[in-house]
Order: sequence, then C-alpha cells, then structure tokens
Amino acid sequence: MSPPAGSDVRGAARAARVTLRAPSAADRRRVREIVDASGVFRPDEITIALEVVDGAISAPGRDYWAVGAYEEDQLVGFAAFGPVPCTLTTWDLYWIAVDPALQGSGIGRMLMDHCEAAITAEGGRLVVVETSSRDDYGPTRAFYRRLRYHEQATIPDYYAPGDGLVVYTKYLAPSVNG
Ligand SMILES: CC(C)(COP(=O)(O)OP(=O)(O)OC[C@H]1O[C@@H](n2cnc3c(N)ncnc32)[C@H](O)[C@@H]1OP(=O)(O)O)[C@@H](O)C(=O)NCCC(=O)NCCS
Repeated sequence: MSPPAGSDVRGAARAARVTLRAPSAADRRRVREIVDASGVFRPDEITIALEVVDGAISAPGRDYWAVGAYEEDQLVGFAAFGPVPCTLTTWDLYWIAVDPALQGSGIGRMLMDHCEAAITAEGGRLVVVETSSRDDYGPTRAFYRRLRYHEQATIPDYYAPGDGLVVYTKYLAPSVNG
C-alpha cells in the first residue's frame, strides 16, 4: 500500500521526535525567538507572552501553566494556559506558538492535546481561546476549527480598528445547555 502524502509523513515523523515537558527559565530566549518569528504579534503582545510564560515557570499552576515542545532539547513550541479567575471550571488558552520552520508538523496539535488533558485532569470543563479576526490570523483560526473549537463570538474592532476579537470554545465535559 502506498504511504500517504509526503508532507503528512514528514509531519508525523517530526512530531514523533518531539517531546513535551514544562519549560524552564533557560527556554526564555527561545520563547522570545518563536513569538518574534511568528510575525503576527505586536511588541506589547510579546511582552505579555513572556510575562505569562515567566509566571508559569516561576510558579507553575499558581496563575499560569505552560508546556514546551522540544526537538533535540531545543524548544520549538509552547502553550500557556490557566483557570479563568471568577469562574468555576473555565480555562483560558493564553498563548500557543510553534517555530514557523516547523509549523504544519503536528506540534500545535500535540501542545493543544496536552493542554486539554491537563485542564481535564484539573477538573476543567470549558476551554476559551481568543484570537484576532485579521487576515494574517486566518491559518490560526483554521487550526482552532480543525481542533473542533467552535467560533462562539466576535467583537469587531476589539484589538484595534479593523482588528476584531474572535472567541473560540471547546467543552471538555457536557455543557448544561447540551
Ligand atoms: C497556530 C499554530 C500554533 C498551529 O501549530 P502547528 O504546529 O502549525 O499546527 P499542527 O501542524 O499541529 O496542525 C494541527 C491541525 O490543524 C490543521 N491546520 C493547521 N494549520 C492549518 C491551516 N492553515 N489551514 C487548515 N488546517 C490547518 C492541520 O492540518 C492539522 O490537522 P490534522 O492534525 O487533522 O492533520 C502555529 O501555526 C503558530 O504558531 N501560529 C502563529 C502563532 C499564532 O497564531 N498563535 C495563536 C495565537 S491566538
């Protein structure tokens, strides 16, 4: 039987070499490189991304949690998440980014699977993801849809004029609304 399309094989092989673990302070430089290289984040957003990852590294599980994806001990992607204050079991995926050179290899899905499993293990029920309506975030929105996140709300001009908020949700446990 013929193998599936070449890019799928390469992606699966690459993901198979990737391991997940909690990031450490030594990974901060790579976090910065990855968010810089992604090309979609403004400088103020990059500052916040670093603060969130710093929080997860210095006090894991207090406000923020993080997971890193590593290829040969080099950080190639990360996700940061945490419980939403003033909710009972709602969690926010604060940040996810994969080294642009390795995007499309299954690493983003690995990170999201890990986040959802960790959230479920902590009793989380609902995951909320906020992203931008800008054209350059089209691939990001396609990624969330592919992972069965549901577009729940939009707020035009939220981040800036012409840059709206798109809210995605995934219920990890049945909602009272079915
Ligand atoms: C969004 C991002 C994290 C996805 O990571 P990734 O490693 O490229 O994604 P994966 O390769 O794991 O893809 C997972 C699935 O989404 C699908 N997918 C990814 N990008 C897609 C696209 N542009 N269109 C359609 N499907 C897409 C893949 O086909 C794959 O589906 P499959 O597992 O069923 O084959 C990554 O592209 C990224 O870092 N983007 C820039 C930063 C960013 O936008 N972060 C989010 C801010 S809110």
